[in-house]
Amino acid sequence: MVSDILVASNRGPVSYALREEDGTLQARRGGGGLVSGLSAIGPDAGAVWVCAALGAGDREAVRRGVSEPGVRMLDIPAEVHEAAYNGIANSVLWFVHHLLYQTPLEPVFDAGFRRRWEAYRAYNRAFAEALAAEAAPGAAVLIQDYHLALAPGMLRELRPDVRIGHFSHTPWAPPDYFGMLPDDVARELLEGMLGADRLGFLTHRWADAFTACCERVLGGTGGTEIGVHGLGADGEFLRARSQEPDVADRMSTLRAQIGDGSRKTVIRVDRTELSKNIVRGLLAFRTLLEEHPEWRERVVHIAFAYPSRQDLEVYRRYTAEVSRLADEINAAFGTPDWTPVILHVKDDFARSLAAYRLADVALVNPIRDGMNLVAKEVPVVSDAGCALVLSREAGAYEELSEDAITVNPYDVTGTATALHEALTMPEAERAERTKRLAAAATALPPERWFLEQLEALRAVG
Ligand code: G6P
Repeated sequence: MVSDILVASNRGPVSYALREEDGTLQARRGGGGLVSGLSAIGPDAGAVWVCAALGAGDREAVRRGVSEPGVRMLDIPAEVHEAAYNGIANSVLWFVHHLLYQTPLEPVFDAGFRRRWEAYRAYNRAFAEALAAEAAPGAAVLIQDYHLALAPGMLRELRPDVRIGHFSHTPWAPPDYFGMLPDDVARELLEGMLGADRLGFLTHRWADAFTACCERVLGGTGGTEIGVHGLGADGEFLRARSQEPDVADRMSTLRAQIGDGSRKTVIRVDRTELSKNIVRGLLAFRTLLEEHPEWRERVVHIAFAYPSRQDLEVYRRYTAEVSRLADEINAAFGTPDWTPVILHVKDDFARSLAAYRLADVALVNPIRDGMNLVAKEVPVVSDAGCALVLSREAGAYEELSEDAITVNPYDVTGTATALHEALTMPEAERAERTKRLAAAATALPPERWFLEQLEALRAVG
């Protein structure tokens, strides 16, 4: 079966769990902007989504020939995937684009790196070959993210007839930082991306950084079109989903944990991800309790930090540090009837929505973030208005800075001051700001975001 529209990404719209008891496979559909975006073209459009088999369940599904309509899972050898995904994409490219290398010990580009880079090439080639085989003449192929930076160039060589788009869901590193990559690798990455007809970014800032890297390393972008599409929240879906009974149940549970009904609530919802800056967020909350003792017993910080990328040691250490610090704050300030930090690590979407609805303040303080959809979802769902404390390094800052209280994410004292300001914001002002934030946050919902890119790709001259 060949298709006119193809999407390619590491993580696909479905994953399979293998039940130990009876060996059956259970399909789980994922969420996210791309999944809802793709639904805009309808089930009859015959789009094909090419993704990697990620765990034992996915691999078993491929082996048994089990699949969902429109999804093609690639069974890339486990060691190649591991080296490409954990060894290069998440350890090197993610770190470069989020400015996460902060020690004299990292990064080291040695023989081990070269072997992993070879795997990254093989992984990209597997995608390029599958896409080349599935694409109808002149098809539109939309390749996603830093995992697949080489695939556009590789596909271009195999299939000069197709239209190739690439979209970066992450920030892009500034040239001085990008320059830490070995020169040949930097060149290969940029040339791979420029194999596309059109490149998409979430903000002007990331697009400009990419252009600046191309100018520095290659002398220019060679005529590839570059566009900015700031993915917005799916307002319609979120409003409906947040009114479901399971969300109301979670609100009751959270209210019971908060205790006294007059207490204010500061929430955060993240993957436990180094770039999300959860530890400095907790330090800022502690500083708030130290500098403004009037908030003791009167505010609770609800932190949802859902485990992510636990194959990487640095993520496991970070996850442990988040728990340790939350315990330390609770031990230092807690009273028999007040737990200052309520930390939940088990992913629960209904509970996240419940927190969005009841929060007085949302803390979104990433070191650097492609967009950050939590900042966009909270104002849409909030019941009575929620003040947003937002890092100036989040992509969402470009659209939300006017009505958020903005912070330098490294400045713990400044973040504590911003939390105080947010907690004392008059209710009417908070409600007004939340309304404007919600409007800005839903300006480009996922379906339009996707269609815009598809149309722009087809229109490339
Ligand atoms: C970011 C990336 C996505 C990725 C997601 C979760 O948002 O841009 O491509 O899927 O993080 O990370 P994971 O490594 O679990 O896929």
